[in-house]
Amino acid sequence: MRIPPEKIEEIRSANDIVDVISQHVRLKKRGKNFLGLCPFHQEKTPSFTVSAEKQVYHCFGCGKGGNVFTFVMELEKVSFTEAVRTLAEKVGITITFTQADEQRESEIENLYNACRFAGLFFHNNLTKTDEGRGAMEYFRNRGFSEETIRTFGLGYSMNSWDALLNKTKEEGLQPESLLKAGLLRSRDDGGQYDYFRGRVMFPIFSTSGRVIGFGARKIREDDPVQGKYINSPETPIYNKSRVLFGLFHSKEAVRSAEHALMVEGYADLISLYQAGIQNVVASSGTALTEDQVQLITRYTKRLTLVYDSDSAGSNAMLRGMDVVLAHDLEVRIVELPEGEDPDSFVRKHGGKEFSKLVDQAVSFIDFKAKQLLRAGAFNTPDGKAEAVRSIVQSIAKMPDELKRNFYIKEVSAKYDIYETVLYRELERWIHEGKRSFDSGNRFQPGRADQDAPPPSAPEGNSAPRVSSVGVRAAERDVLKLLLENQPGLINFIFTHITLADLEDEQANRLAERILAHLDETGSAEISGLLGEIEDPALKGLLTDIAVSKYELSKQWETMEVRIEDADPWDIARGAIAALKKTSLQRQIEANQKLLREASQHGEDAIPFVQRHQELIRLLKEVESPEFLKSN
Ligand code: UTP
Ligand code: MN
Repeated sequence: MRIPPEKIEEIRSANDIVDVISQHVRLKKRGKNFLGLCPFHQEKTPSFTVSAEKQVYHCFGCGKGGNVFTFVMELEKVSFTEAVRTLAEKVGITITFTQADEQRESEIENLYNACRFAGLFFHNNLTKTDEGRGAMEYFRNRGFSEETIRTFGLGYSMNSWDALLNKTKEEGLQPESLLKAGLLRSRDDGGQYDYFRGRVMFPIFSTSGRVIGFGARKIREDDPVQGKYINSPETPIYNKSRVLFGLFHSKEAVRSAEHALMVEGYADLISLYQAGIQNVVASSGTALTEDQVQLITRYTKRLTLVYDSDSAGSNAMLRGMDVVLAHDLEVRIVELPEGEDPDSFVRKHGGKEFSKLVDQAVSFIDFKAKQLLRAGAFNTPDGKAEAVRSIVQSIAKMPDELKRNFYIKEVSAKYDIYETVLYRELERWIHEGKRSFDSGNRFQPGRADQDAPPPSAPEGNSAPRVSSVGVRAAERDVLKLLLENQPGLINFIFTHITLADLEDEQANRLAERILAHLDETGSAEISGLLGEIEDPALKGLLTDIAVSKYELSKQWETMEVRIEDADPWDIARGAIAALKKTSLQRQIEANQKLLREASQHGEDAIPFVQRHQELIRLLKEVESPEFLKSN
């Protein structure tokens, strides 16, 4: 559903960021800004800064930042639209939609209602009917407690063509939305019948706890329907590739453990949860999708896949690995003993033993190597080459260059292959990844280009990384100046420097985004920019710059002006001078090298000497307090 931009702006300005954040964080006034303990990572001394003037927040500990919508999204783990709604409700703004929107909205509400209604019906069948006893017996045999059955809202669909249909009519509901939810089916003669019959029912919850679909497991031998499990069809509220089963129940545990386990089955998840291992989600036996990986990264960057070698699904799970690697998740793999799945293992050996296995999880690379070894891939030179290639191919998916180097070293040592050979192979795959990316593949390839995914946002680590750490003072000042909304000033800056003078990659990318936004909208308004930038690292840099003071480059300090009185034009002169100085120093060094080489080879050195003098002259100019004063 689209909310008109004017409406979004209205809601944003009606919700003062300091008010909203104050309801969750104790803020104290510090100069122009407010300061408190960051709600997004563990800290003892406050580094979470809120600017009332700019209506943004930024944490100098973990690097997260954004506007009032981002805050609600992050805190409550909801979508942008949901955050807008929450804040609209808070201040009593009603969001009106076009008629088509409203119709769609009520269609969606009807789908939710249909699923909730059916979920209650199934649960009731299980717990309160004679026919349900058999299903109850089934769950009991699987070791599911009554509490577990309640927690996960498990149920039973009557072995009948019209139990749900009749209940629907009895309650005066329209069968229409149950049809749309896939709970009823149409007959050729225009009548309807129940889709799920005589099966135990696993409701699938959205992340915010609404029932959006069902998985239904066979419990009798004579069940005529193919498939151990059948599932709800895709509907506007149930998109398989965007859902992780169990996340609604496990999200708090995932967040506090800063770690998620990934299993394949409904029953696996429920058994682990019951055994006290609650930071677990299930992929429901399909290959992980981009959306699912993105969903999990909202809660943690550390993922352990629990692999049962017998399951066909496990291979699907491994296929999803490229997506996981490309998102820079820290991924490990636990292999269960043959013949076991997480459910059977934990029932036999208990949660403690299972946790021990998890502690022994190996890296994805080690796991892959082991699989290849087991398949005999290392037995011949050709096989070995192929196997190593396949491993390097996975390494190429990692966006973090440091991590790639680390793994290359490891592979080199382990398989006694020259690093240079591995690097050549790596480059090839990175290139390949880029090519398939260019041709419309939406998975991110390995880094080495500027479009690489951002480095991971720290999630409450003891040593959080601050995204903007490499950005020099002068670069920060230039970025801040771009946000001043003074067109003349921007022209002034970019007649003296170019974008390339911002050497830090993040700073450079951000400047480019700000300039593009300026071109399009005529303003560098922060909340507008925040809505456009998706990369959390760039977002973080933007809010960091917005709530920070001008840095004043060293050059600037010599001019002896108090920062409080600083005029943006003076700041600009200081920043330009500092950037130019760096650039000139580089050029001087390079020229001196050429000069040395020329004289060593007995060539004409005079042009280099002249160039040197010219560069020194320019450097003096830049270092003078009068630099650009006449402009
Ligand atoms: P498994 O075949 O590993 O089943 O499928 P399981 O979870 O161990 O089931 P139990 O223990 O026999 O009850 C793993 C997951 O794959 C999906 C389901 O989500 C299942 O939980 N699946 C499997 C289907 O959707 N359809 C099927 O026919 C089989
Ligand atoms: Mn099982």
